[in-house]
Amino acid sequence: TDPALIRNFCIIAHIDHGKSTLADRMLQLTGVVEQRQMRAQYLDRMDIERERGITIKSQAVRLPWAPSAGEGRDTTHVLNMIDTPGHVDFTYEVSRSLAACEGCILLVDAAQGIEAQTLANLYLAMENELTIIPVLNKIDLPAAQPEKFAAELAHLIGCDPADVLKVSAKTGEGVAELLDKVVAEVPPPVGNADAPARAMIFDSVYDAYRGVVTYVKVVDGALARRERIRMMSTGATHELLEIGVSSPEMSSSDGLGVGEVGYLITGVKDVRQSKVGDTVTLYSKGATEPLGGYKDPKPMVFSGLYPLDGSDYPELREALDKLQLNDAALVYEPETSAALGFGFRVGFLGLLHLDVIRERLEREFGLGLIATAPNVIYRVVMEDGTEYQVTNPSEFPTGKIAEVHEPVVRATLLAPSEFIGAIMELCQTRRGTLLGMDYLSEDRVELRYTLPLAEIVFDFFDALKSKTRGYASLDYEPTGEQAADLVKVDILLHGDKVDAFSAITHKEKAYAYGVRLVAKLRELIPRQNFEVPIQAAIGSRVIARETVRAIRKDVLAKCYGGDISRKRKLLEKQKEGKKRMKMVGNVEVPQEAFIAVLSSD
Ligand code: GTP
Repeated sequence: TDPALIRNFCIIAHIDHGKSTLADRMLQLTGVVEQRQMRAQYLDRMDIERERGITIKSQAVRLPWAPSAGEGRDTTHVLNMIDTPGHVDFTYEVSRSLAACEGCILLVDAAQGIEAQTLANLYLAMENELTIIPVLNKIDLPAAQPEKFAAELAHLIGCDPADVLKVSAKTGEGVAELLDKVVAEVPPPVGNADAPARAMIFDSVYDAYRGVVTYVKVVDGALARRERIRMMSTGATHELLEIGVSSPEMSSSDGLGVGEVGYLITGVKDVRQSKVGDTVTLYSKGATEPLGGYKDPKPMVFSGLYPLDGSDYPELREALDKLQLNDAALVYEPETSAALGFGFRVGFLGLLHLDVIRERLEREFGLGLIATAPNVIYRVVMEDGTEYQVTNPSEFPTGKIAEVHEPVVRATLLAPSEFIGAIMELCQTRRGTLLGMDYLSEDRVELRYTLPLAEIVFDFFDALKSKTRGYASLDYEPTGEQAADLVKVDILLHGDKVDAFSAITHKEKAYAYGVRLVAKLRELIPRQNFEVPIQAAIGSRVIARETVRAIRKDVLAKCYGGDISRKRKLLEKQKEGKKRMKMVGNVEVPQEAFIAVLSSD
């Protein structure tokens, strides 16, 4: 295709503002999906995404479109719509999808206005110098306030409110005009057709039948079927078994030229061999300089995953191996816990990623799991200069520590201005530093904070929502690390340290944390035949203590002489209960106790 006829764009939207619905309408209007095949959210393929209504993996679709007005009228153009993942955990993937585009649609719900995610992604789009087309969606809603939010959008990106398009993805109103506008305003891609081939990978997906499918945008030169390609970050070479475009089903072609977006298949079986952000070139006469912006995926949050039933350990390993084929950001290594037995320390991009993986392990692989409280990665520098990367709190070094560093994020929070006080208070208790504050309109304000990642991984979002009656939105991106006064709090049951309960907290919060956890465990741990002291300690110093008193009577004593079926029922119930217990030393601990550590109330 002549690059002058190509338009590469993406849609930036907050969750639920209607991105998938708009994409569906575009598929229909351009005729690539026939009416009868159309099902809601055609592009969200994974079941779990469908159920949760979130988009995790990005994809690209080629849409033919002949505008009905303006320059290029009646000429069929090639629009490549690149779907961006919608959640904070996937910022890097979003940034690569944006880098593959020349323009983006900034889609905002006309009844809601701008949200933090919209804003964070808009900043990414601006960094990538994309042309931005502001659009209000859901104008069919009675609650829509198109004039108000058009003004807000216009103010934000510096355009005329009259330039904000108003559409309804549901009814299709305004969508054809939007496609015309994409042709008119998004610049065509530029690249050097005679230079050595360079294509950027913006997504790669494992397919059980075809192996890894890699989505690329060709920046310079061309790629053709049967050629040998080289991945510039690793030097690995592969043969291009198939190359083509998806519209939205995959259809193979002879090759891709400058500005084109499509997929490659090389027969590799593991997405780590086809990394997002990497540059693909040809094996012979290849490029020497990769395209900018490549980064290795870096796990930010760690959790121990243990099978409830120890004999499921090999199945858990197999399941993780399988998931990793499709997820370059998932890392894990075996670990042993005195309390929980054999399991894995697993690294995730963030909490959503953790949830998704845990749920898939349970649902797709039928595994019962215990997950330990998620923690971030700490860099501990000892006085003698040795350094440790701590991904498991129980491995926090003892001895003379010089400094502990923790990861921090830059958070963008957006809310009606009446909640400024509540948000500031919350960020204060989470050790945040205010970076700046701006009014987007009279009554909506944007706050920017530096916050320790550890302070937001548990329940920050929930706390924010409850303090702002659901009105605030949040987005964040990792920005580095800071030194902090951090200590390890251990929990001892019956005098034995339970590694799975160890946590790293700020020194000033350690006491409160210990008291709270010990009280909670006392409620959750059932009485045993002996007295069980529960203690929280920093090093050898006990900071909190509770006791679970011993049971005196046999449960069956109550039914003495009673009805036998009632007795049997009671025994069965007890057995059931046992299954969900873990023996820790000689104390039975219910599964809930491990989860309880997670919540802060
Ligand atoms: P994520 O995939 O979670 O990011 O959401 P999304 O932005 O893709 O939103 P989605 O398309 O799933 O739409 C969210 C909800 O809004 C759905 O219930 C849609 O039916 C509804 N919706 C989308 N567009 C419109 C519209 O123009 N009008 C009305 N009334 N509802 C719409």
